[in-house]
Amino acid sequence: VHHFQYRHGELYAEDVAIADIASEVGTPFYLYSRATFTRHIKVMQEAFADRPTLVAYAVKANSNQAILKLVASLGAGADVVSLGELMRAERAGIPSDKIVFSGVAKTHEEIAYALNMGIKCFNAESEPELLRINEVAKSLGKIAPVSVRINPNVDAKTHAKISTGKAENKFGIPFERANEVYQTIAECDHLKAVGIDMHIGSQITDLEPFDNAFKLMAELVEKLGNAGHKIEHIDVGGGLGIPYDNSNQVPPEPMAYAQIVRKNLNHLDCEIVLEPGRMVAGNAGIFITKVEYVKEGAERQFVIVDAGMNDLLRPTLYESYHTVQPVKEDAKLQERMGDVVGPVCETGDYIAKGRHLPHVEEGDLLAVMSAGAYGAVMSGTYNTRPLCAEVMVDGDQFHIIRPRQTYEDLIGQDSVPDWL
Ligand code: LLP
Repeated sequence: VHHFQYRHGELYAEDVAIADIASEVGTPFYLYSRATFTRHIKVMQEAFADRPTLVAYAVKANSNQAILKLVASLGAGADVVSLGELMRAERAGIPSDKIVFSGVAKTHEEIAYALNMGIKCFNAESEPELLRINEVAKSLGKIAPVSVRINPNVDAKTHAKISTGKAENKFGIPFERANEVYQTIAECDHLKAVGIDMHIGSQITDLEPFDNAFKLMAELVEKLGNAGHKIEHIDVGGGLGIPYDNSNQVPPEPMAYAQIVRKNLNHLDCEIVLEPGRMVAGNAGIFITKVEYVKEGAERQFVIVDAGMNDLLRPTLYESYHTVQPVKEDAKLQERMGDVVGPVCETGDYIAKGRHLPHVEEGDLLAVMSAGAYGAVMSGTYNTRPLCAEVMVDGDQFHIIRPRQTYEDLIGQDSVPDWL
């Protein structure tokens, strides 16, 4: 459910006509709904309201300061994977004791910064990493709170590029080795095991892989407890899918997901940490682009827009489907198949492929739906195209939360040596 709906034949974001934003901001741009974001965070918080739970929003999905400020105001925490994300969370006022740090390649600098900030936990992904955290903590005279990311070797049944919980993936430690690794932690003077962690993939639309993984985690927590390793929190990662289209891949409701978490883990005396990214941000944002040309190709029609794979990479990288809607409502779809393509000089530069598209002409605006997660954050400047603007709507007001990059921003950073 989101707040991008037609009114009087025009697409609105909450109470603002999208065409009005476009005429002020230009195109392309990302557009977020505050109410939708808020709702998605609250759904998760409320599902666990009766037990100790931390919703640690996965910052990688969308890390704009305005969004993180909103996350902070709702009492949620953050899951970060780099020094940059940690600094973003810190600057937005997310309390350090609500921040967990994931990722396979934490540097000395990142570990030291996080220790000095006093984060809730490092989600460690290997033994060499644990030893490094111990060493940095020692040099700073601190005790580092750590969890071990367990690779449960379950098939999340999602796109291969975003599956992370199989034995062949680079993430985590095989669950068979968990006991040994917690023993290593116990022997390190500057580490304290506080939790256990997992994340099996993203855009998961089937509850079964979660069910299997959570069951395994519960068994592991009990086994570790018996071996003297008390686990204070269980971090179940993110991964819950969202609806991108009207196909038969209907993702479970957040409540059904919550039920699976509770069923498997409620009997343990542990705090639960969740790291949702897409589920919070995905349908809270859309992407607006303008039609430059309509070109009748030999086999199909090409709707050529002013946004490309540098702005929204998901279709190119994952063949992902995003619904494309006209901002001016048009009930009738074209009979001829068409592609929505961008200006970048690559065949892979498309937003939609082989669709019955709405009737559009030059100058019309198109809304690419479900673009709030892994949209703006994955954009780049290929073909020397400026990073586009980001806008947030709240009721009848809107604010540019990141202006479009200027050409001077883009070119002015280059430095030519004086010997040229
Ligand atoms: N926690 C960890 C450790 C993660 O690696 C991720 C996502 C999340 C939480 C959040 O997962 P979510 O709830 O958003 O599924 N760029 C890809 C998705 C990559 C996800 C990477 N990790 C895409 O556009 O589909």
